[in-house]
Amino acid sequence: MQVVNVQIPNNENKTYPIYVGVDAIEKIAETVEMISPKNILVVTNETIYELYFEWLTKAFEKISAKIGYCILPDGEIYKNKTSLETILTCAFENKLERNDAIIAFGGGVIGDIAGFASSIYLRGINFIQIPTTILAQVDSSVGGKVAINTPYGKNLLGAFYQPKAVISDLQVLKTLPKREILTGLSETVKYAFIEKTCGAGFTDFAKYLYANTKDILQLEFEKLAYVVETSCKLKAVVVEQDEKEKGLRSVLNFGHTIGHAIEKCTQYKVFTHGEAVAIGMKAVFMIALNLGKINTEYYDFAVDLLKSYELDFKIPKEVTVAQLADALSFDKKVKDGKVRFVLPVGYAKAEIFDDIDLQVIEGTLKELY
Ligand SMILES: NC(=O)c1ccc[n+]([C@@H]2O[C@H](COP(=O)([O-])OP(=O)(O)OC[C@H]3O[C@@H](n4cnc5c(N)ncnc54)[C@H](O)[C@@H]3O)[C@@H](O)[C@H]2O)c1
Repeated sequence: MQVVNVQIPNNENKTYPIYVGVDAIEKIAETVEMISPKNILVVTNETIYELYFEWLTKAFEKISAKIGYCILPDGEIYKNKTSLETILTCAFENKLERNDAIIAFGGGVIGDIAGFASSIYLRGINFIQIPTTILAQVDSSVGGKVAINTPYGKNLLGAFYQPKAVISDLQVLKTLPKREILTGLSETVKYAFIEKTCGAGFTDFAKYLYANTKDILQLEFEKLAYVVETSCKLKAVVVEQDEKEKGLRSVLNFGHTIGHAIEKCTQYKVFTHGEAVAIGMKAVFMIALNLGKINTEYYDFAVDLLKSYELDFKIPKEVTVAQLADALSFDKKVKDGKVRFVLPVGYAKAEIFDDIDLQVIEGTLKELY
C-alpha cells in the first residue's frame, strides 16, 4: 500500500494521509481509532450502498463506534441544498458530537457534499474520505474543496475543509462503468501535461501513462496504484503551495476553462466532466501550437495520449462558437477581449497567461467540430 502525506496548508506541522492500494480499506479501523468517536455517520448513495454495504460492514468490524448511514439518491443533480439538509438531519438524529466523524463513501458528488456538511455541522466535525471513483481518488478527495451546487451555478456554496484521512481502495473501481473510468483518467492525463509546473520533481508521468495505457485501462492494480499515487502527489504539492487558488493552483485548471464552457453550453447533459476537459485540453494544445509556444512533435504526442485513453471528442454542432465565447466571458475569465488561460509551454510544462486573445481562442474552437 502507498501512502501520500499531504501537508495541511497554513498549518506546517499537520499532515493527513492518503492511503492507496488494493487493501487500503484496512486502514479504516486505525484511522477511526485516532479520532476515537462514539458515533460515525457514513454518507453514500443508493448505487454504492447496494454494491458495497457488506464489504464496508466487514471493514467496520473492528470499530467500536456506533455507525449510522445517510443514503442519498445518485446523481450530480442531488448535490444540492436538500441533500445537505438530509445529511445534517441524519447527523443530528445520530447524535453526532464534535469528536465524532462523518465518512464520505462515494464519488466526487458524495465527497463534496459530505465534506461541506462536515465543515458546517457543529462548526466542523471530523471528516474521512473513502473515494470510490477514479476522479474522486485522483482529484476531488485531494485539496480540501467541498461544495454543493445552486440554481445559480455549480459549486457556489462551499468551503475549504481538509479530511483527517483519505482511503483510496482500488478494489471498488472494478464496478465503475467504463465511461466513469475514462472521465477519471482524463484528470490523470492532465497531471502528466503539467507535471513539471507542479514542483514535485519530474518522473515523466506522461511517458508512463503512454507506455502502460492498456494495463491502466484494464485497471491492473499495481499500475493503477502508481497512477493514483502520482496524481495525488502532484495535486497535493500544488495545493500545499496555494490552497486558495491565488496563483499556482490555477494550473490545475489546465483544459478546464474551455471544458467548463462546453459543459455549460450542453447543459451538463452531453459530456461527463472529464470528457469536456479532454476537449479543453486538445484546445489548449492547439492554441499553444498556433501561438508558437509548443512544437508539432509535442502537439502530436499530446493528441495521441488523449486518443489512447479514448478521450477524443468533438464539440456538438448545436453549440456555437459565440455561445462558448459567451460562457467564457460569464466565467469572468475574459477582460478587455483577453482571456486568462493555462497553456502548455513545453513538454509536461504549463504556464498561466492573462493576455490570450479571445479571437485566437474562437479561431481554435472552430477546428474542434
Ligand atoms: N472538490 C474538488 O476539488 C473536486 C474536483 C473535481 C470534481 N469535483 C466534483 O466531483 C463530482 C464528480 O465526481 P465523480 O466523477 O466521482 O462523479 P459521481 O460522484 O457522480 O460518480 C459517478 C457515478 O459513478 C457511480 N459510482 C461511484 N463509485 C462507484 C463504484 N465504485 N462502482 C460503481 N459505480 C460507482 C456513482 O453512483 C455515480 O453514478 C462533481 O460534482 C465535481 O464538481 C470536485
